Amino acid sequence: MTLAVLASGRGSNLAALLDAFPGDVRLVISDKPDAAALDRAREAGITAAHVPFPKGGRATFEAQVQALLDTHGVTLVLLAGFMRLLSADFTGRWRGRILNIHPSLLPAFPGLHAQQQALDAGAAWSGCTVHFVDAGMDTGDIILQKRVPVLRSDTADTLAARILTAEHEAYPQAVRLVRAGLAFPRPTPDDLRAEFGDQAPPHASVRQVRAARLLQQWGRPEAVPAVLAGAPHPVAALALATDDLRLAWTTDAPLNERHATWADRAPLRARAQALHLAEEFDAAVHVTAHEWERTTL
Ligand code: GRF
Repeated sequence: MTLAVLASGRGSNLAALLDAFPGDVRLVISDKPDAAALDRAREAGITAAHVPFPKGGRATFEAQVQALLDTHGVTLVLLAGFMRLLSADFTGRWRGRILNIHPSLLPAFPGLHAQQQALDAGAAWSGCTVHFVDAGMDTGDIILQKRVPVLRSDTADTLAARILTAEHEAYPQAVRLVRAGLAFPRPTPDDLRAEFGDQAPPHASVRQVRAARLLQQWGRPEAVPAVLAGAPHPVAALALATDDLRLAWTTDAPLNERHATWADRAPLRARAQALHLAEEFDAAVHVTAHEWERTTL
């Protein structure tokens, strides 16, 4: 995947992405000529482009950005502290291939000053959210969230710093999920029909679609209708449980409980073995196995 980052400011998330994906970030764009993010990009030897966002000039801005993305063969766009809303036209064209990070547990506290909003609301927890971008403000489908405590002594700055540490862990992880095909926007009825044919129900969750794809990889397409419809079926149930296990590091359970879930996977593997799917099970959980070491929050 060829990545572009859009940033308006400091660029600490950009730095985390550069560390995580050396060589893959080919383009950094800012609407602010003096954004530190542009300096970081230049230091890393990456094309750094200032594209002005004139008042009422969103269409012009987006056309220039699109041209740069095309020129550089970008396949995934990452907003990191980018302070502008993009149009439905632009975000629709990039549906499922444009991400943002926000310093709250969305849907709580969207928009500006999310950390101050959390303090003002007396929240005991806040965190960060990586989500797909649509035309709304911080409204797109959620990919990954990380929780951090809000302390009584916190100011907006101390809370922001704690959340930022979580952001730098979350953003690369979310990108790897998208890259592995494990995160995608909620499927529309058309998406479902295109992928699974006329047998597909009009609605299915992202989790059900992931499990249905596992079943196809496993050579068990006969269980796909059951998994999409939520009907009982032993192989469909195994696919859902396998998907849950490989993503258990993303849940908001305490970290030790998440690790315990992963450590206790032998019974599920035994179920897979009984269904002659042990190797398939191993391959499926292998896709995200490395994330366990990278998960501290
Ligand atoms: C981050 O808190 C991000 O969540 C928000 O803007 C801030 C950008 O920080 N959207 P940086 O420029 O990545 O350091």
